[in-house]
Amino acid sequence: MPYREYLLNAANKFGTPLYVYDADIILRQISYFKEAFKAFPLRIMFAMKSNSNINILKLMLKNGVGLDTVSILELQTGLQMGFSSEQIVFTPNLVDFNEIVEAVTLGADINIENLSNLEKFGKEYGSSKSCFIRLNPHIIAESKSKAVTEWHNQSKFGISLTQFDQLHKIIKKYGIIVDGIHIHSSHVIMETEIFLKGAAIIFQLAENFPHLKYIDFGGGIKVPHYSGERVVDLIELGKALKPKYDDFCRKIDKRIELWFEPGRFMVGESGTLLVQVKVLKTNGHVKFAGVDSGFSQLIRPMFYDAYHEIVNLSNPGGKQEVYTVVGNLCEIDNFAKDRFLNEIREGDILAITHAGAYGYSMASQYNSRFRPAEVMISGDKMQVIRKRDTLEDLLRNQIEINI
Ligand SMILES: Cc1ncc(COP(=O)(O)O)c(C=O)c1O
Repeated sequence: MPYREYLLNAANKFGTPLYVYDADIILRQISYFKEAFKAFPLRIMFAMKSNSNINILKLMLKNGVGLDTVSILELQTGLQMGFSSEQIVFTPNLVDFNEIVEAVTLGADINIENLSNLEKFGKEYGSSKSCFIRLNPHIIAESKSKAVTEWHNQSKFGISLTQFDQLHKIIKKYGIIVDGIHIHSSHVIMETEIFLKGAAIIFQLAENFPHLKYIDFGGGIKVPHYSGERVVDLIELGKALKPKYDDFCRKIDKRIELWFEPGRFMVGESGTLLVQVKVLKTNGHVKFAGVDSGFSQLIRPMFYDAYHEIVNLSNPGGKQEVYTVVGNLCEIDNFAKDRFLNEIREGDILAITHAGAYGYSMASQYNSRFRPAEVMISGDKMQVIRKRDTLEDLLRNQIEINI
């Protein structure tokens, strides 16, 4: 059955808005990643913040992929799903030191990204527990999104290379064993050339860490947001990296394991948000198609200016016209502006594609609307993997007092 029909069936059967994931695409991405880096000792840690549905975690586990976690609850979820603590890295940002202590107790590898927590880590563990250090090499991403550019220009992430001396003083003072160094280049930066530039800096810095076993290149691998968009060729990237990696290993006389923490790359393409057009409306020259969803269910277009392809599943042969596809929240709430789409009628089902990462996981109940249900297609099976919220979910944890 063509995928379009699967999607229409899913919308019919389970209603909209609905997230649908194609398990085969996730498996394809895992295989592609492994193939691209088969010449290296490799560890892939799925960034579960991008999609924490337990069935997606299960797919990762079954296929030898570990987890990159950013909170204790993510870490505990991973352990509950059967990942061993050795398969989990804890990469939080600016958290209370107690969270790091808890993650050490749970057995995960710890990634430290500020000098304050590094000092506390040294005091608490000395050389009895090793850690990763997250460095910020200040490589600037090219992006049209203000949010992304700011992250790089005034980034709160990682220990700046300008603080390298302070970093080493703390390491020396407590005898901290740094067995991993980490950079996460974040969104859209992972063009081969920029990646190699980052790698060269890291290889150079690595010589300062005598206990080093791992280099973690984080995530941020660009994925297409519409069919045919040019993205980084990982196979080429792996080939380009190999001689530089070999030189580096020769120089330090050991083989370092390479880690990656892809999120979007693993699940972005696999997910589609299905929505239904409820109202067509024209204001001035703009033709709005109002759908039964909003940025509370897929925030990426509004937050990052992210482009998501939209397909009118109900009218694939319709004449193309220009639409602005908007959600129902009482805010500016665009999914797409001035987009050519096949003629849209009220009731049509639209597929917002490449929405498997940072879609549901960033969803909220804003405007008191239910978060969507999630469905997984695997082979010819289509199964619900998360129910739609209910009124009970909206009211859960609220306590009525006498006022
Ligand atoms: C430390 C770290 N690793 C991995 C990721 C995953 O990034 P992506 O989904 O772009 O691959 C993120 C995302 O913000 C991150 O902060």
